[in-house]
Amino acid sequence: MENRALFFAATTFSLLLLLLLPHPSTAASATAAASPPLSSTFYHATCPRATSVIRAVVQRAVAGEPRLGASLLRMHFHDCFVQGCDGSVLLDDTGAVEGEKGTPPNKNSLRGFQVVDAAKSELEHVCPGVVSCADTLAVAAREGVVAVGGPSWDLLLGRRDSLAPNASATIELPGPDSPLAGLREMFAAKGFTEAEMVALSGAHTIGRSSCRFFRGRIYNDANMDREYAARLQTACPPVGGDLTVAPLDPRSPDMFDNAYYGNLVERKGLFRSDQALFGGGGGNAVEEQVLRYSRNLSAFEADFAAAMQKMSALSPLTGGQGEVRVNCRRVNPAVE
Ligand code: HEM
Ligand SMILES: *[C@@H]1O[C@H](CO)[C@@H](O)[C@H](O)[C@H]1NC(C)=O
Ligand SMILES: *[C@@H]1O[C@H](CO)[C@@H](O)[C@H](O)[C@H]1NC(C)=O
Repeated sequence: MENRALFFAATTFSLLLLLLLPHPSTAASATAAASPPLSSTFYHATCPRATSVIRAVVQRAVAGEPRLGASLLRMHFHDCFVQGCDGSVLLDDTGAVEGEKGTPPNKNSLRGFQVVDAAKSELEHVCPGVVSCADTLAVAAREGVVAVGGPSWDLLLGRRDSLAPNASATIELPGPDSPLAGLREMFAAKGFTEAEMVALSGAHTIGRSSCRFFRGRIYNDANMDREYAARLQTACPPVGGDLTVAPLDPRSPDMFDNAYYGNLVERKGLFRSDQALFGGGGGNAVEEQVLRYSRNLSAFEADFAAAMQKMSALSPLTGGQGEVRVNCRRVNPAVE
C-alpha cells in the first residue's frame, strides 16, 4: 500500500516535471517547425503569380497617382516597426479593439489602403487563402518604389498575418521633431545601425507631408534655408491648414532619386528629423554619408535596397504563427 502510494507520487512528480520542463531539443525543434525562415521560393508552388499580380495592381495605381508609391512605402515601414512586418497596420478598428490606423503617427496620414485591398482581392481570385496581407504589403512597397524610379530588392516571403493590432506600440515610430539621438535610439531598438538609418531616411525623396508635421520647423529653425522656409510658411500658416500638403523633396517629388540628400546639404530638409542628419551637429560620419549619397546615386540605391530588405524581415510571423487573412482589414472569423 505504502509502496503503491510512493510509486504513484513519484510517477505524478516525473509527469509534472515532463510537463513543466520541456526537453531542450524538443522545444528547439518545435520552435523551428513553428517559425521557419522567410523564403525566396515561398509561393512558387502555391501561387506562382503572386508577385506579378501585386506588381500590376501597384503599377496601375501609381500611374494614376504617383504619390501612392510613397504611401505604400511608408505603410510598410509603419507595419514593420510595430511588432514586426505582420500586416497589423492594415486592421481596421473594431468595437472591441482599437487598431493602429487611428493613432497619432497614422491618423489622417497613412494612405493607400485601397491599393493593398485591390491587390489582395485579385490574389484571392488567383489563389484563394494563400498570400498573406503582410507579404502583399511588403511586395507592394517594393513595387511602389520601383514604379517611381527607385531600386528593387530581393524579397523573402512567407510572412503571416497578426491576429491583433497593437495601437500602443505605435509610439515606437519616430516623430518629425526627433533629434538625431532620438532617431538613432529608435532605429537601434529595431536593430539598425546609424548608417542604415541614414539610408532608410532617403525614403523621404518621395511623397508628401501635411503642414501639421513640418510647422514646428519652418518658423524658428536656424538650420533651414530662409527662402524655402518662407515658401512653406505660405502653404502652412501658424494656425489652420493642418492637412495642406507639401512635397518632402521639392526638387523631384515623385522620383525616387538621391535629391533628398542634396536638399539636406542645402538646409532644405522638410522635417527637423531630416535636417538632423546634416548641419545640426550630427557629426562627421553622418554628414559624410549624406554628402556621399548626394553625389553618388548608385551608392544610395544599393544601401537603401539592402536596408529595406532588412526592414522587410523585422520579426515576421511564419509557419503556424498568425494566419493568412482573407480580408486585410479584419482577422478571419473564428471557425466553430
Ligand atoms: C527617420 C525617421 C522618420 C520620421 C520622423 C518620419 C516622419 C514622417 C512624417 C511626419 C511624414 C508625413 C506624413 C503625413 O503628412 O501624413 C512622413 C512621410 C513619409 N515617410 Fe517618413 N519618417 C521617417 C522615416 C521613414 C522611413 C524609414 C521610411 C521608409 C523606408 C519613410 C517613408 C516615408 C514616405 C514615403 C513618406 C511620404 C508618404 C506619402 O506621401 O503618403 N519614412 N514621414
Ligand atoms: C503592445 O506593445 C507594447 C509596447 O511595445 C508592449 O509593451 C505590449 O506588450 C504589446 N501588447 C501585446 C498584446 O503584444
Ligand atoms: C559610387 O558608389 C558605388 C557603390 O558604392 C561605387 O562602386 C562607386 O565607385 C562610387 N562612385 C564614385 C564616383 O564615387
